[in-house]
Amino acid sequence: MSAPKSVIAILGSARNDGNAAQLFNAVLAGCPATRFNLSDLNIRDYEYGRQPDDDDFLILANAIAEADTILLVTPVYWYTMSGVMKRFMDRLTDLTTVMKPLGRKLAGRTIFVAACGSAKNLPEGYEVPFRNTAGYLNMNYGGIYYRGMQDDEILSNDARTEAAQFGARVLRSVDL
Ligand SMILES: Cc1cc2nc3c(=O)[nH]c(=O)nc-3n(C[C@H](O)[C@H](O)[C@H](O)COP(=O)(O)O)c2cc1C
Repeated sequence: MSAPKSVIAILGSARNDGNAAQLFNAVLAGCPATRFNLSDLNIRDYEYGRQPDDDDFLILANAIAEADTILLVTPVYWYTMSGVMKRFMDRLTDLTTVMKPLGRKLAGRTIFVAACGSAKNLPEGYEVPFRNTAGYLNMNYGGIYYRGMQDDEILSNDARTEAAQFGARVLRSVDL
């Protein structure tokens, strides 16, 4: 019997109760995902030659390696992902160096992204680091859901429905 398929969702924002957190909850409404908030974890900056077990990245790396689909949720900060999400992305390097056996397990998995910003549209090139990182790690890139949100905006019911539809798409990907 094959193992159950699963989604891991990772939030990376400079605040826990802000727009990206709201988007995270809206996308995941009805989606049985394992959830992580990078703010709750001690994930240090990438360092050359770091040993794999000296912070919480190992916890996250193990969870990622077990998941079929990874959803990253981040605000747009200065036309790119949040700093905390970038730090996490930098640490994926560990999966190609000191944690290679774990990294190999990522092949064939899918990455999705959900993002919010104050602008109406996603900045040019925003998806490049996600798509190309997925490619580098032999993963699939599933696409992005972007929501323009004003500061402290409460998502309308229509917006929640749209976000949940994206969540349903993420969930469907585990059965591809
Ligand atoms: C440091 C910083 C940089 C930002 N840069 C951008 C940007 O380049 N483009 C944009 O559309 N919004 C930008 N914003 C607005 C946020 O993306 C937007 O308010 C988002 O919904 C905030 O999510 P949060 O509450 O999770 O931080 C920026 C906000 C901050 C705090």
